Amino acid sequence: MAETAGKKRWWTRGNLLIAVNALAFLAALCQVATVLAMGSDAGAFGISRKDWRELHQGVGVFLLCAIGLHVLLNGRWILGVVRSFRANHPS
Ligand code: HEM
Repeated sequence: MAETAGKKRWWTRGNLLIAVNALAFLAALCQVATVLAMGSDAGAFGISRKDWRELHQGVGVFLLCAIGLHVLLNGRWILGVVRSFRANHPS
């Protein structure tokens, strides 16, 4: 239920999924962009290769957290697929 004491709360599962998916998408773009910037020994845009690598790692940790939340928020769907697979493939 999306209501608390008559007030609608915004942090419903659907809205959280939209936010997490959007952040994960942006983080994935940054992850690839930082790899491209790491490509040159001289760095890029006045930022050294070492700093781009640290940024790549930082964005990478954020991306993994966002992917973890995405999996958690879709846990019921994932369990449903596992259950129906096991029901259709009894060992
Ligand atoms: C879209 C996903 C990713 C791609 C395409 C990617 C690609 C790469 C590539 C090509 C390098 C080598 C760069 C070089 O030294 O020339 C690299 C290094 C590195 N990546 Fe990623 N990466 C991804 C995700 C991640 C994630 C999720 C993490 C960690 C949270 C991560 C952490 C690192 C670190 C720490 C290095 C530096 C390793 C070193 O010191 O040599 N990357 N990545």
